[in-house]
Amino acid sequence: MTERLTIRRPDDMHLHLRDGEMLRAVLPESARHFARAIVMPNLVPPVVTGAQAAAYRARIRAALPAGADFTPLMTLYLTEATDPADVARAAAEGIVTAVKLYPAGATTNSASGVRDFDRVRGVLERMAEIGLPLCVHGEGSDPEVDIFDREAVFIDRVLDPIRRAVPGLRVVMEHVTTKEGVDYVATGGEGIAATITVHHLILNRNHILAGGIRPHYYCLPVAKREAHRLALRAAAVSGSPRFFLGTDSAPHPDRLKEHACGCAGCFTAPNAIPILAEVFEAEGALGRLEGFTSRHGAAFYGLAPNAGTLTLVRGQEPVTCPARIAAGAETVTVFDPMMPLHWSVA
Ligand code: NCD
Ligand code: ZN
Repeated sequence: MTERLTIRRPDDMHLHLRDGEMLRAVLPESARHFARAIVMPNLVPPVVTGAQAAAYRARIRAALPAGADFTPLMTLYLTEATDPADVARAAAEGIVTAVKLYPAGATTNSASGVRDFDRVRGVLERMAEIGLPLCVHGEGSDPEVDIFDREAVFIDRVLDPIRRAVPGLRVVMEHVTTKEGVDYVATGGEGIAATITVHHLILNRNHILAGGIRPHYYCLPVAKREAHRLALRAAAVSGSPRFFLGTDSAPHPDRLKEHACGCAGCFTAPNAIPILAEVFEAEGALGRLEGFTSRHGAAFYGLAPNAGTLTLVRGQEPVTCPARIAAGAETVTVFDPMMPLHWSVA
């Protein structure tokens, strides 16, 4: 059995870092293991312009612990008022790496998202011209559509029409959660890829709802049936360059998770890499971990793999991770994978 595994330093291709006190609390947890991350723009108010992305990037850099080697890759929050010229300028100046599409109302802080997709056609065409990827929150918010069906319906009603209307647009289907999503991406040609989170490799909907409601397992897109989880696991360990890690680590104060109307998001930054090592080992695919965490995403975004390495060590005894971290006066619960972890980062 492998006892040590050295991989290129990983990239987290979907991360929520928040701002202010929460940013200062969670950023070291990502910077410890990850060399780069695609940083989501759903602040309140959202990061919409190139100037706002540059200012947010400066706040992230200022919050980094001394000596940390971590590059935030910024995104813009697409709105119906987004100016194609501003997007192109921010891309040319190296300020942004992608644009994020949230259908209005689909998830946390998505009220400024897109309602009428024809209104963003100009931006999408400009992005296709300059090769700037679109990251998509692949769920609609139509109240008529069952929450467990929203990803599959979104593919048919929104994603596929957008890709047909704007050929050449590079698209990342973020945090894919269904077999339909996996199949769409696997057969979708060169221009599409998907991120897979750590928690969606672990959770099915029973974990959220059976035997009591577990708010720390509630995230969006919501975890689906076991068959879908198995499809995600198969895709993650397949070695296909279309699938790569985006943790969607999404910290919220415990006070707001453990609430009558608890908010969505799992905080996985501290233990994402040890959990993945355990999952890939269980699937007999440790040799494919590096592709998933450190190569496929970089290749899709046209980035070189990170120069540095990360060494994982497997102990005989399970290792423990803190159950929560402090963020000022708040606490944030770390995702519990419900299984012993033997891998840790050396
Ligand atoms: C994210 C958040 O909290 O910002 N929540 C989540 O459940 N994933 C938003 C998102 O990515 O949908
Ligand atoms: Zn997210």
